Amino acid sequence: MRSVDPKKLKSETTDTDRKGLDTALVPMRTLVLCPVLQTRAATPKSGAPVKPQTRSPEAQLEEAIGLASAIGLEICSSGVLQIAKPRPGTLLGTGKVEELRGLVAAEDIDLVIVDHPLTPVQQRNLEKAWNAKILDRTGLILEIFGDRAQTREGRLQVELAHLTYQKSRLVRSWTHLERQRGGVGFLGGPGETQIESDRRALQVKITRIRRELDQVKRTRSLHRESRKRVPYAIIALVGYTNAGKSTLFNHVTGADVSAKDQLFATLDPTMREIQLPGGTKAILSDTVGFISNLPTGLIAAFRATLEEVLEADLILHVRDIASEESDAQALDVENVLAELGIEASESRTRMLEVWNKVDLLDEDRASELRNAAGRADGGAYCVSSITGEGLPELLEALETKLNASDREVEITLDPGEGALMNWLHENTQILSADTDSEGRTTYQLRISRAREQQFTKRFANRPSASAAE
Ligand code: GTP
Repeated sequence: MRSVDPKKLKSETTDTDRKGLDTALVPMRTLVLCPVLQTRAATPKSGAPVKPQTRSPEAQLEEAIGLASAIGLEICSSGVLQIAKPRPGTLLGTGKVEELRGLVAAEDIDLVIVDHPLTPVQQRNLEKAWNAKILDRTGLILEIFGDRAQTREGRLQVELAHLTYQKSRLVRSWTHLERQRGGVGFLGGPGETQIESDRRALQVKITRIRRELDQVKRTRSLHRESRKRVPYAIIALVGYTNAGKSTLFNHVTGADVSAKDQLFATLDPTMREIQLPGGTKAILSDTVGFISNLPTGLIAAFRATLEEVLEADLILHVRDIASEESDAQALDVENVLAELGIEASESRTRMLEVWNKVDLLDEDRASELRNAAGRADGGAYCVSSITGEGLPELLEALETKLNASDREVEITLDPGEGALMNWLHENTQILSADTDSEGRTTYQLRISRAREQQFTKRFANRPSASAAE
């Protein structure tokens, strides 16, 4: 195993805004380590999956630093660690553990982030060896999510993911963590092991949170039902964290959603009504950013929030096309979507790719991409959410795609049919309305697929209801 030269570790201090952070991690002096395993014997004992590393180690490190900065940690040092043979007890070899102990002491480090899954035993051993707090990738992402969640549902989901994560670690480390409590304590009886009582306490909390979440979800599905009564299609933005979803959302809706050069700035979904160029109205929904190796527990926890995506009429996959990692990031997003149940085949019918940040490319590369976008499967649009380039074309394409499945219909109502007239106004797009001398109004309408059944039920037997195509 090659030893780390501490001088090769980047030294940097971020000037982060720490206001409003309630995490106990802030402002900790932090070392960020990105272990790169060189063998396939990389699966840790915990069974946590290790995905093949598609990114360069430098890009992985940069992302880990970005994640750590996202909660205002003070990054003092960072570095990539090549690991030839992972050790079950510490992941790193003895020599490297010793060497880093010196660095941790010299730099007065409080927290070491290891951008890799660690077993509870590895975490505990490293904490002891370095006399510092250790956080692995999942732990770090949970901290960030905990810091960002704004709504009650978001907070409950993060708490649930946190507790489930803790509980799974108690189970996995059963033999290592088990110790006698000797009858003291609130929950456990005499002789009960600490781990049993810890597990029970966690389970009680998990059950309570699940109940609260169920309640919140019921309210949420009521909202969704009432939204369904509005004849607007839902367009959901998805994408890797920092791809520019919120910036695009703000540009298109004129809203002022937080768009920061910060990972996971948006955690809870935000919705706004937009009007497309031809008059079609739709609801645009900004969602949580995805990230590589997103802990499975977190995907499950955010399933409810991401139901907005599942139910969307159109999904816009926003990509930072200027990033060297753009393809790897796109693959991560597709994997998360697949875990949510949105398969690649389906994506062709209701998914569009938005290749964002073209303003950062030189003209040759930008025009190369514009050509490639025209040929892309399912459709892709080169845009800049900052300069607005390409956005009119994108909006037109959205409208065409949304309206492709609509039906145009002509119908005439008598003057006394106020209730039906109201229904048309609320549930269809009225293209024109002509009232004759006897007060009868003939409407040209556009009906979305979602409203078609209700329309047919109300107007089935009317001779005047006819398809206008
Ligand atoms: P998460 O909330 O982490 O999921 O991020 P996001 O996808 O919502 O990204 P956000 O809109 O917050 O943008 C991230 C950073 O990229 C911000 O600094 C934006 O100003 C910048 N950005 C977004 N779109 C563009 C673009 O088209 N061009 C350039 N140059 N920068 C952009």
